[in-house]
Formats: sequence, structure tokens, C-alpha cells
Amino acid sequence: MEHVRIIGCGKAAGEQKITNNDLENIVETSDEWITTRTGIRSRYISSSRNTSDLAIEAAANAIQSAGINPHDIRLIIVATLTPDCVTPSVACMVQAALGLNEDNIMAFDLNAACSGFLFALQTASSLLQEGYGLVIGAETLSKILNWEDRSTCVLFGDGAGACVIERDEKASMTFYARSSGDTAHALYCGSRSLQKDMHNVKEDKQYLEMNGREVFRFATRAMPDAIHAVMQDDDIDTIDLIIPHQANRRILEYVSKKMKYPMEKMIINLDEFGNTSSASVPIALARAWEEGRIRENMTIVLVGFGAGFTWGACRIETGGKQL
Ligand code: COA
Repeated sequence: MEHVRIIGCGKAAGEQKITNNDLENIVETSDEWITTRTGIRSRYISSSRNTSDLAIEAAANAIQSAGINPHDIRLIIVATLTPDCVTPSVACMVQAALGLNEDNIMAFDLNAACSGFLFALQTASSLLQEGYGLVIGAETLSKILNWEDRSTCVLFGDGAGACVIERDEKASMTFYARSSGDTAHALYCGSRSLQKDMHNVKEDKQYLEMNGREVFRFATRAMPDAIHAVMQDDDIDTIDLIIPHQANRRILEYVSKKMKYPMEKMIINLDEFGNTSSASVPIALARAWEEGRIRENMTIVLVGFGAGFTWGACRIETGGKQL
């Protein structure tokens, strides 16, 4: 358990809203198929702004919402599987954009696929000693999607979510994080392979591939597992709010039924944003924050799963103050 609390949240989205009807002009699909199978009605796609631009906007919004001096930030972690480039990290780009180059800061990226934000929050909570930590999930998944593959391109969107944390003895976060090392292509995106350029062998660009049914099966096991783990012996009924990874409404309905936990107490915005991978939990968190749904003395559970497979949860006890 870490004594930390969230003091501000922010989000950003790709600039172009694409509806299911718009996708009907790109691949052989229908609004009806996508809505009934996933609950997704639209997603935001970024064609001019990269992952760092979305991360910077979300970070600026989180800093404003926290009302802090950015020069007191000591740690920046960005969870992403779609960084702008191999190096430098998106976190260092955020640091530069915020004008924090001269400050005493550690900044780095972390990739745990769609569980990335949860892993980043846990890492930041355990590393942060003083000042503030900036934890961001940011993605431009549209650049790794095969826009001829209807089984994947309809599911994902671009966006970023961020939060500012500080140490506080009155608040707590309990974490659970797991990886299965099951990399057998249920959810996979390749990269350049070894020594191709040296031998002048041209390679096709690699795109995200997915076995939807296998991921579905995994997700419906992983989410209850992670929620039970952070709740330990406490009753699931005592959770005031669950903020889940926004992959598919049917997965959430299954989890709700299996755990006898009402859908009304889950924050769901996948209908508008689609699946934004590591940005999905912090975007939903920022929305809950903006709507005033996060208050003092609440028990809130963030929960997610992703490629790898990775999965995890964070139980937040907001304590006496708002988060
Ligand atoms: N539009 C129309 N038809 C589509 C389609 C689309 N966008 N995508 C796939 N189909 C077709 C398939 O080709 C298949 O056709 P066929 O029966 O003629 O072969 C049919 O729809 C049924 O596909 P199926 O895979 O059985 O659908 P499903 O009920 O399993 O739903 C998913 C597919 C992807 C929505 C579902 O498996 C899922 O949500 N999985 C989890 C994915 C996820 O969460 N990924 C992110 C993890 S972080």
C-alpha cells in the first residue's frame, strides 16, 4: 500500500471524431455490428498530432486541475505502446514542453500495453518521495492499425489521460499487477526484425493483430481476478466506483454480472472514445473527476488488462479530502 493521492486529472483526444457510419466507407462493416458487439459508437483519430502532443495537452490540463506549480514535479512517467519515436521518450518530450528541463526530475516511458497506466501509477507511487508525480497514458493507436482489417480498426482510438499525484498519509492506493508472458499473438504488433536492413531486405509495415475471442476470454477472467485481489477480504459492494479499461461494453457487462456489481457504478466512455489502450483508464478517470464523481471517503477501483498478457488494479481510498 502506498500513501499517495491524486490531486488533478486531465485528458486529450485525437482531433477527428470518426463514427461507425464513417467506418462503413473504409471497411466492410456496419454501425449495427460494431455497436452490438462492442458498444463503441465513435472514436477520435489524430492525423496531425503525435502521442507526445496528446500527452502534453492532457498533462497541462491535469496540472491546471491540480493547481500546482509544474516546477515542483519530480517524476514523469508516460505509459504508451505508440511513442513518437524509439528515443527520446515521450516523457522527456512532455518534460521539455512544460519547460522543466532544468528541474530535478526523472522522466521515462513504460509499456505494459493497455494495463500501462496502472503499471505507471504503481511505479510512480513507489518512486515518489517529494513534490509531485505526473502519470500519463497516451496513445496514437491509429498509426499501428491496419485500416483494411475490420476486426481491429473499428475498436481503437487516439487519446491521452493524465493525473498528478502527491504523497499523503491520509489517502492510500493498493496495487495488484500481473503479467502472464503469454505472447502467443492473441494481441500482437511486430516491429522491424533483426538484420533486415543490413541484408537489404525490405519489410512490410507491421500492424496490430488480434484474436478477439481469446482476448475476450482472458479479459473476463483477468478483471474479476484483479478486483478481488485489491479488495482482499472486503466486500465488492463497498466499491463506490469502478473505472475499468474501456475495451468493450460486453466485457464489462460480463464482469458486472459475474461479480454482481452494478454497471451504473462503472465509468464507461468507450461508446465515445473506443479503446485508447493505456490512455483509456486515465481518460475515464479524468471524466469522472470533471463530473465531480470522485469525492472524499470513497473506495474507487481502477482495473485493466492488455497484451502480454498484462492485467492489474488499483484500489484508491480517497480519505478525508477529494482523492
Ligand atoms: N464488421 C462486421 N463484421 C465483422 C467485423 C466488423 N468490424 N469484424 C469481424 N467481423 C466478422 C468476422 O469476420 C466474423 O465473420 P464470419 O463469421 O463470417 O467469419 C463475424 O464478424 C464474427 O466474428 P467473431 O470474432 O465471432 O465476433 P465476436 O462476437 O467474437 O466479436 C470482438 C468480436 C472483437 C468484438 C470480440 O471478440 C471482442 O471484443 N474481443 C475482445 C477484444 C478486445 O478487447 N481487444 C482489446 C484488448 S486490450
